[in-house]
Amino acid sequence: MRVCVIGTGYVGLVTGVCLSHIGHEVICVDNNEEKVKILKSGQSPIYEPGLAELMKSSIEVGRLHFTSDLAAGVAHGDILFIAVGTPPLPTGESDTRYVEAVARGIGAHLDGGYKVIVNKSTVPIGSGDWVRMIVLDGIVERQKSLVTAGGGGVTTLEEIKADFDVVSNPEFLREGSAVYDTFNPDRIVLGSNSPKAIQMMKKLYEPLVNRGFSDDSNLPPVPVVVTDLNSAEMIKYAANAFLATKISFINEVANICDRVGADVTQVARGIGLDSRIGNKFLQAGIGWGGSCFPKDVSALIHTADDYGYEAELLKAAVNVNRRQRVITIEKLQHELKILKGKTVGLLGLTFKPNTDDMRDAPALNIIEQLNRLGARVKAYDPIVSQAGIGQGLSGVIVESDPEMLADGCDALVLVTDWQEFLQLDYRKMASLMNNPVMIDGRNFLDRQQLETAGFRYVGIGR
Ligand code: UDX
Ligand code: UDX
Repeated sequence: MRVCVIGTGYVGLVTGVCLSHIGHEVICVDNNEEKVKILKSGQSPIYEPGLAELMKSSIEVGRLHFTSDLAAGVAHGDILFIAVGTPPLPTGESDTRYVEAVARGIGAHLDGGYKVIVNKSTVPIGSGDWVRMIVLDGIVERQKSLVTAGGGGVTTLEEIKADFDVVSNPEFLREGSAVYDTFNPDRIVLGSNSPKAIQMMKKLYEPLVNRGFSDDSNLPPVPVVVTDLNSAEMIKYAANAFLATKISFINEVANICDRVGADVTQVARGIGLDSRIGNKFLQAGIGWGGSCFPKDVSALIHTADDYGYEAELLKAAVNVNRRQRVITIEKLQHELKILKGKTVGLLGLTFKPNTDDMRDAPALNIIEQLNRLGARVKAYDPIVSQAGIGQGLSGVIVESDPEMLADGCDALVLVTDWQEFLQLDYRKMASLMNNPVMIDGRNFLDRQQLETAGFRYVGIGR
């Protein structure tokens, strides 16, 4: 099928690349010319495991193209994905201006043939109808300009043909395993009131539904959940709000464990084996960050508020998370007392491993708090240190290897659970430090191993 994906960020690029890999003809559009230039040269502007390889092979077979020309993308695609960012505003609402600009642009370039417009961006509930309205506005504006210019052959607004439907198709891709998640989905959600659009979307996803690209092709087909527009949009928010609340729950339990002398990792295992609870997303630590959980939970609270409901449970999940982010500071104060004049080294900067994404990363709050308390902050991150992304960070010295990080530190804080941190030479690192203390913000390291290496080990809730 012929597909256009508008927005080549973490979600749009993975979507475009994976759809071309399963056999579709894809054009990816981005209004950032620099980015398009990088993409055209066959390079991925983001770090996402497996993505660059798939991108290269799809470009080689001629099924994947990049452009900054929205008109060309709209003309190509029978299915048009909107995958631009919806960052949070200071009020907690989503900033939908990019979605609006794209919807208007699609309207301005629709050529008469039937199109399915798919909302992949996480948009406030009710945005499906709003996108339809903006696309229609875009069509009207173009027709008006044609009439004014005396061209186009269309003389009245009644003659406008608008043959399109809107579908909400939320993404559930985790950064760091987005390619894997695309090929091995738990479900595909399609929200629309148009049977024709749903049919086309089912055809688009058929190779994935039939497990043609799954790690295990013997699994039963992927469930396709067909709903109305609003319910599909709500599914996205509810899924992320549930997962974020689950993490805040285990973090709260960890804080109680700390006080009563229980070990939250054992508690998580003990409750996670109950199939009604499940063992995933029960890793206690310094809390959730990234481009989705914080933004989506805030947006859902905001929407509830708009409709006269106070989402108390979600507000509590956010508050627990806010407090959790600085729990490492309390632990550092407990270990080192005065932090002024001390040097603290952070192992990891990104909001989770296997990504270069720093959006709403707990590391940023920790750096800010340590700076405020007069400590010197250094950091080492497997990706940020290499990619030179660290240049934009303030209040932190980004070191190029873990031993340089340890050198002269009064304590280390493990912020991100990168696999490579399991294999560091901790004995050597301890010998380079003023004071070998390790605050393990993700309960990721082995206490015994660290203590043998000469560290005083402090976890979260254990
Ligand atoms: C996505 C979703 O779309 C967002 O709603 C969801 O909650 C998280 O995932 P993400 O892929 O992270 O967002 O966005 P980002 O990495 O910021 O990329 C957006 C891309 O769209 C950028 O490349 C930007 O240049 C492009 N863009 C933006 C356009 O092409 N046109 C615009 O008008 C605006
Ligand atoms: C999330 C959703 O999981 C995904 O379906 C999609 O909607 C996009 O948003 P992502 O933000 O990439 O994915 O990462 P995720 O793996 O969900 O982790 C989010 C945050 O929670 C990270 O900061 C992570 O460190 C933290 N986390 C996760 C925990 O603290 N404990 C856990 O047990 C799991």
